[in-house]
Amino acid sequence: MPTSAKNPHLPFGDQRMAPWYGKDIISVKQFSRSDLEYVFAVAHEMRVMVERVGTFDLLKGKILANLFYEPSTRTSSSFAAAMERLGGSVISINEVRYSSVAKGESLPDTIRTLECYADVIVIRHPELGSAAIAAQAAHKPVINAGDGVGEHPTQALLDAFTIHEELVQMDDLTVTMLGDLKYGRTVHSLSRLLSLYNAKLNYVSPEILRMPPEIIAELEAKGIRQAEHNALDKVLPETDVLYVTRVQRERFESEEVYNSVKGAFVVDKNIMAGAKKKMIVMHPLPRVAEINVDFDDDPRAAYFRQMEFGLYVRMALLAMVLGKA
Ligand code: CP
Repeated sequence: MPTSAKNPHLPFGDQRMAPWYGKDIISVKQFSRSDLEYVFAVAHEMRVMVERVGTFDLLKGKILANLFYEPSTRTSSSFAAAMERLGGSVISINEVRYSSVAKGESLPDTIRTLECYADVIVIRHPELGSAAIAAQAAHKPVINAGDGVGEHPTQALLDAFTIHEELVQMDDLTVTMLGDLKYGRTVHSLSRLLSLYNAKLNYVSPEILRMPPEIIAELEAKGIRQAEHNALDKVLPETDVLYVTRVQRERFESEEVYNSVKGAFVVDKNIMAGAKKKMIVMHPLPRVAEINVDFDDDPRAAYFRQMEFGLYVRMALLAMVLGKA
């Protein structure tokens, strides 16, 4: 369930109708299975509305501050597009070196500044825990758009929505996560969300990029079936969702170590001949070389559709925390 409440200006009855109003979204741990169903339903409505009318006035007059201390294409632009499709407007700070951060302004002071001008703040920051620090400083809702190697909750929500829209069911799926499972914050968040369902999780990675033991232990305590592998071929035939991740050069201190693992797994047309006909391949993107472009036209390649679903989920989340869903 949602945690801290901010902006409790809605009358009590309306607050019960809008349970995410004024809440921060920092971790997927805030979401129960019924919360996910709620997000899926609102995101689906957003999809229908965008397809039908494109832009509408649900958040007219509201302002989003989009604060990115790390590079982003999808998260930053989909939050901006989400706000504008809902009739609101956006303050974009994508180059913090041109903001007062370059003069040494602290994260809490930057947040206190932006909340004077905006109704909701989206933040991406390279340090684990930074989104929680921002949320503590703010009186307005803060949404975590990725905090270092920690979490990327809105990505996990759009990943789950993609599975829901593409495969209809969420239970009884075998999900294989491939690539950098150590630093990949998207797989940390998604595995936690999948633990709300009866999923089987396979982790395929180079030895030095294995899923963190604390996440495996957390999911084991919930009775989730998990297995670690160093090759894809054994688990591919049983896989319903293949979730591929990039080996992230920016997380390595040594170029030599990065080079030793960067090409460990490449998914292509030939390899995918060993997979089910009805399954999907996902990737949070950007990709480097871990999915060959020769697979892009295969109907199972869901990664471009996944990006579009991100727009609907982020529209849903903005509407929810601003009390309009
Ligand atoms: N998936 C994702 O977070 O992409 P960006 O880094 O482009 O935002």
